[in-house]
Amino acid sequence: MTQDELKTLVGQAALQYVQPGTVIGVGTGSTVDKFIDALASSGIQIAGAVSSSVRSTERMKSLGIAVLDADKVTALGVYIDGADEIDHGGNMIKGGGAALTREKIVADLATQFVCIADESKLVDALGKFPLPVEVIPMAAAQIARRFAAMGAEATLRAGVVTDNSCHILDVRGLTITAPLAFETEVNQWPGVVTVGVFARHRASVCLLGTASGVKTLA
Ligand code: 5RP
Repeated sequence: MTQDELKTLVGQAALQYVQPGTVIGVGTGSTVDKFIDALASSGIQIAGAVSSSVRSTERMKSLGIAVLDADKVTALGVYIDGADEIDHGGNMIKGGGAALTREKIVADLATQFVCIADESKLVDALGKFPLPVEVIPMAAAQIARRFAAMGAEATLRAGVVTDNSCHILDVRGLTITAPLAFETEVNQWPGVVTVGVFARHRASVCLLGTASGVKTLA
């Protein structure tokens, strides 16, 4: 199966976590696009979705799915989103699509985070995928120096301005063996809006698309 077919498979598999009549959280990316398409054609009637990006909002609206503002919702049963990497503990790197801040906000509203990913995303330790960090533009150079002091290299993602009018640093050369401690540390640096390590908001369940079908990691 191609990577695209695996994404379709897990997008469909995620429908089992959607309770009719509820409001759900919806992430961002090509795998989530498959989920949105599957939801739209499933006939499952939901009360609406809280979206983590302009991209997903537009896709859902175009398919007739009601999108609600995050600040109008007190809690979500489930948040469904992809990942750039996920380890065996459900810790993730996210933000390849530059939507990490809103993704973490919506994940924070949800009781359950269901990650949908093809098997190429499963790793033993996070860090091979360049870590996205959303930053206030005036702090970018100082934050890059802090990563350099860790032996890593941070580069500004050219031409990208986030939905929150900020910039993205992509950080190469990290091996993140203690994701929660790493996330906590980087979050405290002045000018960091969001670090793309999702350890506090790690996946409760991962639906992993493999050549032999969908594997559920919990
Ligand atoms: C966007 C994300 C995405 O979930 C991540 O980049 C995975 O994307 P895709 O499903 O296209 O591989 O974090 O900010």
